[in-house]
Parts: sequence; structure tokens; C-alpha cells
Amino acid sequence: MDTRIYRHGEIDQAAAAIKRGELVAFPTETVYGLGADATNAEAVKNVYLAKGRPSDNPLIVHVNSIAMVEQYAAEIPANARKLMEKFWPGSLTIILKIKKRALSKTVTGGLNTVAFRFPDCQPTLDLIEAAGVPMVGPSANTSGKPSPTTAQHVYHDLHGKIAGILDNGPTRVGVESTVLDMSTDQPAILRPGAVTKKDIESVIGSIDVNHHKVGKHETPKAPGMKYKHYAPNAQVYIVDSESDWDKVVAWIKQQPFDVGMMAEEKILQKEVLPMNAIQFSLGKNVQDASARLFDGLRQFDDQPNVKAIVTQAFPDHDLGGAYMNRLNKSAGGVHFDPNAVK
Ligand code: TXA
Ligand code: MG
Repeated sequence: MDTRIYRHGEIDQAAAAIKRGELVAFPTETVYGLGADATNAEAVKNVYLAKGRPSDNPLIVHVNSIAMVEQYAAEIPANARKLMEKFWPGSLTIILKIKKRALSKTVTGGLNTVAFRFPDCQPTLDLIEAAGVPMVGPSANTSGKPSPTTAQHVYHDLHGKIAGILDNGPTRVGVESTVLDMSTDQPAILRPGAVTKKDIESVIGSIDVNHHKVGKHETPKAPGMKYKHYAPNAQVYIVDSESDWDKVVAWIKQQPFDVGMMAEEKILQKEVLPMNAIQFSLGKNVQDASARLFDGLRQFDDQPNVKAIVTQAFPDHDLGGAYMNRLNKSAGGVHFDPNAVK
């Protein structure tokens, strides 16, 4: 199958493909999603196949109106509606109880809930409008790899397996949406994103955070949390403190392989880098770093000589909380140890 690139002027053609039950990747403000007609169980099944995604991991349903949510949700609690009105379109996914048999088990992974997201990205809202159906949309990467933030990333992982990609250039936010469970009496954040706990609490009051690591035999709240995630082939090391970088550079010098170095510009400029250090700038702040993290990890994945990647930590709150959540997973929790370097 040839994977075609749809431009802005070709949204009707992309929508026609969705209506035929084909897969079309779409842009959002966070990452690219792998789109299929959420009401077509056969099409949704192909999303799992194309990604190599475990079938018990439910999909987010993308909508372009609250009215579209009303067609599939059993009810929209008052607080959920307040959040929709405040943060939609935007990077907040809201889990609600599903109307009986409103969507197939392939979408929900057999749960009695469904996750809704109204992305802040006009071409994709137009695509949903033209298709006339909500679209499922997991991140459009091969399962386990960093999420795609450009159409090229999607093409790299999925070309030949999907009908097309709607190209809108690089995404703005770069880390996936906040997932908030509103299907129980105690709302809880299952995955941190650009809409923060503080943002949510300013609208509905105190909530829980439940994005801990899930053990093998534990039933996770968000099934996706139990799988290996965002992992490039090289080992990723988290560099906790700015003062550790001299040691990092000394360590790189001792390695027989190339090392990817992901840090803010000010750090890269300060250090004298050895030949085997390959730099990737995370920009000037945590916003830049979040937008660039997955791109950096992916670039090093295409360089077989890079066997380790050292990556800068940011303070673990607000957007930094989402950034550190992704970085921790890609590193499998491994930190660079400055004391181990002579
Ligand atoms: O920013 C985003 O959310 C992107 C863009 C494309 O919209 N999408 C995305 O989808 O990240 P995905 O499938 O890669 O991640 C969705 C997460 C998974 O961890 C999944 O387990 C969880 O949300 N999830 C989906 N439906 C759920 C449900 N009904 N209950 C609990 N967790 C759910
Ligand atoms: Mg994903």
C-alpha cells in the first residue's frame, strides 16, 4: 500500500478515506494520531494491527463538538462539562461512562468507559467534520516507540501500512494530552500532560493523581501505562542536575560508542564536547524541551552508533511533570550517576 501525504487542501480526500474504513494519520497540537472511523469496528481493528498495539489498550475518541460526545457518553457530569467548556479545544482527554453498545469493544478494550478528546488543531477538526464521524486516534507510532511529532515520524513507522497522513508540520506541544478519569466520583489524572493538575483544580476543586507505575499483575487504570513506552534502542540516562554535565562529558569521552546528548542550548554551548558526543538541542525552556523530546529520541534511534542517550531533567511540576513522566519511561527510570565517573 502506498501511504499518501494529504495537504491542507486535500482534507475532503482524507475524509473520504476515513469513511471507506481506511487509516489516515492526523495532526494534533500534542502528537500525531492514527485515525480511523470510531464507529467502524473493522477499521479500528486495523489500527491495533498497524501499530502492533495490544488489543486490551483502549483508544481515545476524537471529536469536534460536545454534541458529538453526547451521542456516545452515558452522561456528561456537570464538572466534566465545565472542564470541556474551559479547556476544549485543547490537551485534556476526559474519560466518561459509555452509553451501552454505543461503540464497539475494539475501541474501549472491553471497559465500560471511553476517553474523549477535542484537539486544538483546525485541519483535524475539519477532517472530523468532513468525515461526519468521531475518529479513534492513538499516537501514530509503532507501539513502544516515542510518539510522532511530525508527519515524517509517522511515515517512518507506518508507511505501507496506512492509507495516508494529513501533514500539518511539527506539533506545538509535543507530549500527549492529559488523561483525566471522570467516570467515578473521585476524578483522577491517569497521564500528565500540558493541562496541569492546578489548571483542572482551578475549575473543579481537588483531584487525585494516579500515574504511578503499574506492576505486571496489577490492573492499571489506564491500560496503556503498563506497557514499555517511548523507548529508543539506546539506553537513555536522565541527567538530574545542571552541575552534573561536566561529569557527563567526561563519561562520554570514555565510551567506545557515540552518545546522544540532549540538553538546553545554554548547556551545550558551555561544554567542550568530545568527538563521540552528538548533540541535540532541547531549546531554551521546558516548553521547547517538551516539543522536541520525542524528535531527539527518534533521531538517535536512526543512528546505530549511538548506544546511549543522556537527557536533561526539568523540575517535575506543571508541564515539566509531563516531560519527566515521558523521559522517565523512555529511560526505564535510569539516572546518570555522577559519582560513578572518575
Ligand atoms: O495527545 C494525545 O492524547 C494523543 C493524540 C493523538 O490525541 N493520543 C494518544 O493516544 O496519546 P494513546 O492511545 O497513545 O494514549 C491514550 C492513553 C493510553 O494510555 C490508554 O490506555 C488511555 O489513554 N485510555 C484510553 N481510553 C481509556 C479508558 N477508557 N480508560 C482508561 N484509560 C484509557
Ligand atoms: Mg501512545
